Amino acid sequence: MAQKISLTRYLVEQQRADGLIPGQLRLLLEVVARACKSISQAVNKGALGGVLGSAESENVQGEIQKKLDIIANEVLIEANEWGGHLAAMASEEMDSIHLVPNRYPQGEYLLLFDPLDGSSNIDVNVSIGTIFSVLRKPENGHGQGVQESDFLQAGSKQVAAGYCIYGPQTTLVLTVGNGVAMFTLDREQGSFMLTQEDIKIPADTKEFAINMSNMRHWDAPVKRYIDECLAGKEGPRGKDFNMRWIASMVADVHRILMRGGVFMYPWDKREPEKAGKLRLMYEANPMSWLVEQAGGAATNGRQRILDIAPTKLHERVAVVLGSKNEVERLTGYHDPL
Ligand code: AHG
Ligand code: MN
Ligand code: MN
Repeated sequence: MAQKISLTRYLVEQQRADGLIPGQLRLLLEVVARACKSISQAVNKGALGGVLGSAESENVQGEIQKKLDIIANEVLIEANEWGGHLAAMASEEMDSIHLVPNRYPQGEYLLLFDPLDGSSNIDVNVSIGTIFSVLRKPENGHGQGVQESDFLQAGSKQVAAGYCIYGPQTTLVLTVGNGVAMFTLDREQGSFMLTQEDIKIPADTKEFAINMSNMRHWDAPVKRYIDECLAGKEGPRGKDFNMRWIASMVADVHRILMRGGVFMYPWDKREPEKAGKLRLMYEANPMSWLVEQAGGAATNGRQRILDIAPTKLHERVAVVLGSKNEVERLTGYHDPL
């Protein structure tokens, strides 16, 4: 029988074989995985653990926080503070960056996360997740400790990215720039075990994911693309399309990594000054890198997401990602920059 490979062993072997994972980064990924295990426990307890419902507070983006948004954020912060692998963290749920306290050694990495993605699904028992992105702390010229500007690096600079989905199974999906691997939590062992390596997204698909209730607010290229899909066999695409929308990016992207598809959260006219709904640093960058590593593509409609130079921590962005040919088609419908 083939030997089972734990996340720990996978990371050790990546470190040895490819030198892709320095020791500090390996520790960081282990700690993030441990935090995800603990978030998964809280999610599983649900009403029994008193974790459902609203916290009745607002985050920096004006969104009402759920209790689990706050719990997951705290779990990630506490788990990552003391190991010596990080210099600072940034989260969708915190106004500004969180420095590693002076009493702990400082590491070389910056960790960014969406602690709980899909908050509207928590109380209805639908898949949710945690998304994370790792950057190297730049050699800064400002001679001070870590600052917010140190985080403002393009997604192409990420050294690791992934998510953990809390669904029927708890599954961690990871890239360190060497393809995409998936690990399923074995609750008896308490370990994430490798269950799929070298995940690939098919270039073509018949499945799209978009919140159709926003249709009247879309821009012409998005409307054209979806109209053509909806026209099915008789339309210009010559095939019938299926639609899925889970309202947890983690779950929609996971489906796309497993069987292909295209995910869109475009700019729309509801709040024209907002580039999009999703956050560049906590959602779009890590997911785009995973998708590219699996052979897919990710743009904001005009430009590769990983090339965008961020101007602020909580920046938002339009997102089109998934099966390469579909992403390229919709991107082609937009005027070039
Ligand atoms: P979050 O729960 O972290 O705020 O993210 C929710 C995001 C994303 O996961 C999902 O794709 C999208 O919001 C759903 O938006 P709608 O409710 O507008 O469909
Ligand atoms: Mn989210
Ligand atoms: Mn969130």
